[in-house]
Amino acid sequence: MRRALRLGLLVLAACSGGIKTPETIPVAPGVLPAIPAAIAPPVVDTSAKPAAGGGEAGPALVAADWPLTQRVKSVAGEHAMVVTSHPLASDVGVDILRRGGNAVDAAVAVAFALSVVHPVAGNIGGGGFMVIRTRDDTVRTLDFREAAPSGATRSMYVDSAGNVLASSLTGPLSVGVPGTVAGLFEAHRRFGRLPWKALVAPAVLLARDGHVLDGVRSRQIGREAERLARFPASRAQFLVNGEVPPAGTRFVQSDLARTLQLIADSGSQVFYHGSIAELIVQEMAGGGGLITRDDLARYRVKWRDPIAIGYRGYTIYTMPPPSGGGVTLAEIVNVMEGYAPLPPFGSARLMHLQTEAMRRAYADRNAYLGDPDFVEMPLSRLLSKSYAARLRADIDPQRATPSPPAGGGHSEGTETTHFSIVDAGGSAVSCTTTLNNDFGSAVTVTGAGFLLNDEMDDFMTAPGKPNLFGLVQGEANAIAPGKRMLSGMTPAIVLDPAGRLFLVLGSPGGSRITTAVYQVVSNVIDQDMPLPTAVAAPRLHHQAVPDTLHLELEGFVQASIDSLEAMGHKVTAWNYKTEVNAIGRAAVGWIGVADPRRGGGAAGY
Ligand code: DON
Repeated sequence: MRRALRLGLLVLAACSGGIKTPETIPVAPGVLPAIPAAIAPPVVDTSAKPAAGGGEAGPALVAADWPLTQRVKSVAGEHAMVVTSHPLASDVGVDILRRGGNAVDAAVAVAFALSVVHPVAGNIGGGGFMVIRTRDDTVRTLDFREAAPSGATRSMYVDSAGNVLASSLTGPLSVGVPGTVAGLFEAHRRFGRLPWKALVAPAVLLARDGHVLDGVRSRQIGREAERLARFPASRAQFLVNGEVPPAGTRFVQSDLARTLQLIADSGSQVFYHGSIAELIVQEMAGGGGLITRDDLARYRVKWRDPIAIGYRGYTIYTMPPPSGGGVTLAEIVNVMEGYAPLPPFGSARLMHLQTEAMRRAYADRNAYLGDPDFVEMPLSRLLSKSYAARLRADIDPQRATPSPPAGGGHSEGTETTHFSIVDAGGSAVSCTTTLNNDFGSAVTVTGAGFLLNDEMDDFMTAPGKPNLFGLVQGEANAIAPGKRMLSGMTPAIVLDPAGRLFLVLGSPGGSRITTAVYQVVSNVIDQDMPLPTAVAAPRLHHQAVPDTLHLELEGFVQASIDSLEAMGHKVTAWNYKTEVNAIGRAAVGWIGVADPRRGGGAAGY
């Protein structure tokens, strides 16, 4: 209650432009929620200062001119809230909710709308994960991750010198069997209230009548224009007379409108067995891709038990494998739960501990995780508090632990999208969906107007070699026919200690998704930050390999950065490539925050 009230007050402050920016983000000194004795972990006293100094006692340390503090906006809603990567998609979701739809109905409508207005990541040719909390307080997760085609082989992307070929990222060979349409159809079949057709209809209209392209989406097309132009159907779909359409262009997608109308009329059948399947297979055959009619016909979504992580009395529900997100998040928070009091946000002491927790969690992710239908994983051990205690015991509070050597930096051009929804009945959906790279494989299905993913690159494409995100992964994630590639997506729903819906959040960002989600959760729970501040706060990321600490450098104070370097961390700059779209409980009802790092929007009522 206390927290709800405070969030509510801060909503009002945020709505009236009242977020202050003095020297630091105005965060109350960390007030940790009471931890019931039964679940309180053994704690490590963190009051000792690192040898390198840093002088971190006191309030949060955020650079005075960190621009996101100014840019973050929040929306308050008494009953319901939708936060997505595009304001038009958020409006579609709220409209469905106002018409009596529930959170799953809104999720279906939003996902289809994003495939039209946010084509860099929104999709019907990709896959994703959905965490659903229904009114009866049950949490379920739906896996509609892509699967490797039956013709896929372990070393299909490796040349004779052992290097990974570009065909894992661009062109028909990079495409996994899409899961999105089957996933949305199944979510609706199980939980939907409004007719399916009514949920696809807004997307049909946006594609058929067009929408006004904004600057964000125009720039996204601009950055990938060369890649898109290699494929005639993509060129026709996204470029206008061979040029990048400027902001303000009315963007009409007639082929996509026809495809969406077919899906509205016939459900997922037409996509996996009918005329759309035929067009996908033709596209594959014409360009050396592997997906067959059988691959499409055999594709199945899977309901899976969520991973539930207890954290200082809160419960975080998120995805199990084939997303590595949940296990990685669990390891990070379990390690961090053992430190109390947590040092202030932005202090070298806190950043060091977080980095070391991340390093260990990602090392395990890369070594052990894969598709549960193909590999045995020591999940109960990895998820246990006792294992976290062992990891914690190995962390030197004063020095960075070197990761084992392996290579690779990571690209910054990659796309996924997350949306969060809460309806007036208290149901919630947290959904992350992806094409992987920006505009996926860059292949648009000729005659059908939608992009195909390049999710095959999420497998271990070659032993010891980094993927698009610099992840160097293990045998557990080797390619096999029908197998799902390991993901980092971490859609999450957090309940407060009273069991009430508290946060709904997730992010794109490849390997950085999990650490972004962790930091927002920790900022709210541990640092007592209001949600807009927690989302705007600068982020760090470490993934074991490469052994590099990525920082939103302009957001942290120099003394902390200097301390981290003195402790042995290899610090490097990393720009705003995650996008946490989040909803939090507030006294007014709900507060929605679209990450100011990208071009999303929140809408509620
Ligand atoms: O599933 C995964 O982990 C990746 N394919 C997600 C890609 C992603 O988040 C790119 N977005 N920025």
